[in-house]
Amino acid sequence: MDLKILPDHQSVIAYAAQLIIESIIANPKIVLGTATGRTMDDLYKLLSRAHTVDKIDFSAVSTFNLDEFIGLAPEDTNSYRHYMNQNLFKNTNIKIANTFLPNGIAPDLDREAQAYEAKIRTHGGIDLQILGIGENGHIGFNEPGSALDSRTRPAQIAPETVAQIAPLFGNETLVPRRAITIGIATILDAKRIVLLATGPNKTRILAQTITGPVSTTVPASALQKHPNCLIIADKAAARELQAA
Ligand code: F6R
Repeated sequence: MDLKILPDHQSVIAYAAQLIIESIIANPKIVLGTATGRTMDDLYKLLSRAHTVDKIDFSAVSTFNLDEFIGLAPEDTNSYRHYMNQNLFKNTNIKIANTFLPNGIAPDLDREAQAYEAKIRTHGGIDLQILGIGENGHIGFNEPGSALDSRTRPAQIAPETVAQIAPLFGNETLVPRRAITIGIATILDAKRIVLLATGPNKTRILAQTITGPVSTTVPASALQKHPNCLIIADKAAARELQAA
């Protein structure tokens, strides 16, 4: 695990955007593993800008998102499909047919999850997986207790995560309790992983992720097992690491 500490949120985002842009230039057919969440908002602004201003070409790029809420249709404004369309896809020349998220309203969710996992494989696997981290250590919706060898599946969203994302829904009662998420083993299959952590809310969990034991209690600690994983953190998130 490599760790890069930068002064603030914006410098973390700029560093990650540059890394992704260079990866696209090096491999225009790159398969990106994409995430949602507040940390990603500014990243997608910079990637959108890279297309409109710097003419970075997304036409051969494919994306696989980590997760989607169960029960939300793609058109639902709270769905991750909607989030991706609005924040990234519509601002670039990516082909929508090359952008994948699990279908949260599939009639057979187990089958949908297995098909999603298979689709990642038929695309040759994920070249570069971008991750955020939950305050409880989740990656994707692999909440504490998720098996380290888990694959794409329907999963329960932890109560603390429901609270974390409630502001986006306006009300905690509106947040779905389940999602289809790619598994921890699926994430670890990615050729390269980059995790972004910014702000004081991530300080405690980042220290546990990097310096604690690999354990299902902190799903992100599984990243210690990956041979090519970079964590980019701002000073606030890395505070306990610098002190160590
Ligand atoms: C969402 C996802 C989550 C978020 C995490 C951090 O697709 O994968 O694991 O990355 O909850 O969210 P923010 O960035 O809002 O703190």
